[in-house]
Amino acid sequence: MKRQIINTADGSTTIYIEEWNEHYHSKHGAINEAYHVFIKNGFSLFRNKKDISILEIGFGTGLNAFITMLETDQQNSNINYVGVEAFPVNQEELRLLNYTKQLNVKEDKTALFDKIHNTSWEEKHEITPFFQLKKKQQFFNEIKDTEMYDLIYFDAFGARVQPELWTEEIFAIMFLALKKNGVLVTYRWF
Ligand SMILES: C[S@@+](CC[C@H](N)C(=O)[O-])C[C@H]1O[C@@H](n2cnc3c(N)ncnc32)[C@H](O)[C@@H]1O
Repeated sequence: MKRQIINTADGSTTIYIEEWNEHYHSKHGAINEAYHVFIKNGFSLFRNKKDISILEIGFGTGLNAFITMLETDQQNSNINYVGVEAFPVNQEELRLLNYTKQLNVKEDKTALFDKIHNTSWEEKHEITPFFQLKKKQQFFNEIKDTEMYDLIYFDAFGARVQPELWTEEIFAIMFLALKKNGVLVTYRWF
């Protein structure tokens, strides 16, 4: 499926799939959405926890991972982040994403966005001393983790285009992957 990079209302880029008329992020603002849905209503719930394990459903552009990594600076936590993605973005798409500029990231942190993308898949890497990342190229229904995550960022495409991802089967997999008292956070797609 053809993907193209477009601008959202807050000036940050996202990927648009014309065939589905579907975006990777809210067209009202990719960065705004990442902060509102995943940081404010997800990550922030764990402010006082030392070790936090996070599973991202739909790693995509890596925006949620990057912002979470930036937030760890203020939170003093160790993050174990796993991003699952069946169709990784390519180098040309990455080149066109403007997140480091839009986030006004200091020069020493800019390279970390590339590091997130350039590390190999299926292996755990230290992106910063407080942020460990493992990217897994797999389909969501292949996830077999049990009681591993404090937090799930459920960032699949909406049910209008992928109804099979908003089913009891998929949410049972998410439930099993969460630790007791774990939290799944997602956006409103309808
Ligand atoms: C809404 S986008 C994710 C946006 C991403 N969180 C970001 O910040 O860029 C949904 C992602 O799920 C991936 N995807 C779609 N169906 C999938 C499936 N069945 N298994 C794994 N990944 C899938 C897509 O390639 C896309 O990257």
